[in-house]
Amino acid sequence: MTALIKATSEIKDILAKEKRPLGFVPTMGALHDGHISLIKAAREECKLVVVSIFVNPLQFAPNEDFKKYPRNLENDLKVCNENTVDYVFAPDEKEIYPDESSKNKSIESPKELTGILCGKTRIGHFQGVATVVKKLFDIVQPDYAYFGEKDLQQLYVIKWLVKEYNLPIFIRSCPTVREPNGLAVSSRNQYLTLEQKKTAANIYESLKSAKYNMRIGIFTVSKAILESLIFLSQYPEIKVEYFEARDKDLLAKVDENRRKGFYYFVAAKVGNVRLIDNIEV
Ligand code: PAJ
Repeated sequence: MTALIKATSEIKDILAKEKRPLGFVPTMGALHDGHISLIKAAREECKLVVVSIFVNPLQFAPNEDFKKYPRNLENDLKVCNENTVDYVFAPDEKEIYPDESSKNKSIESPKELTGILCGKTRIGHFQGVATVVKKLFDIVQPDYAYFGEKDLQQLYVIKWLVKEYNLPIFIRSCPTVREPNGLAVSSRNQYLTLEQKKTAANIYESLKSAKYNMRIGIFTVSKAILESLIFLSQYPEIKVEYFEARDKDLLAKVDENRRKGFYYFVAAKVGNVRLIDNIEV
């Protein structure tokens, strides 16, 4: 049976006496198949599995969906129980940020990682992520922590965090889980209508087509992007924010004639819902 713990002091005490290795899956709840894949990976590798559920105000800009972000602790606990999670840590905001000033002590990760792609429009987002994940790591002190490749830029920030603070944690990355039509599973897909979900699947189609165009070798890196943008322009409901190629090592810009060792990243809005996805080339 999954145990629900809300207090920081309590989870620390409990975990100090528990089995190891400890596998940790940080989430914002509204658990779906993407989260479950991380839980399963943790279950396979670790003796103890801890999931955190915390909708972190610090990573939402004032114009974003913090207030209406889906919250359903009861269902999340059911999902955790079905997947034999040992503990769910679901702190209240005061447990993580005891007062307003603690929200100002946020972690600045390097501009090369956070001033690009999503960081260009989601100002402060990755600082918010790094800050909360560092706090959660300090509380839970996992041996392994599991993150999804769907949020690939976030994964780079987490890897930087672990290195920067010399944290003794192995970061495991797990492949993106998709709907049968290819749409990357996301908590925000709940905001889409069925019709919009169908349309949104073309975002992944556009990534696959860019990858394919690279593989057959007739296009440069940016010509393949252009072709994908032309493909997406058939769907006026999809408003592309960016479609970029970034190097696998440091997310640096990619030389025009590169053929592999990079990712295509895309962010687009369908209706009011902002979606992201990526593909490795
Ligand atoms: P959240 O969006 O709830 O995602 C929690 C974890 O699930 C992240 O590592 C994310 O990459 C992974 N995930 C989401 N969708 C996935 C999919 N379709 N396939 C595989 N993995 C997927 O990411 C966050 O929360 C927060 O920023 C957090 C790290 C918890 C810090 O607040």
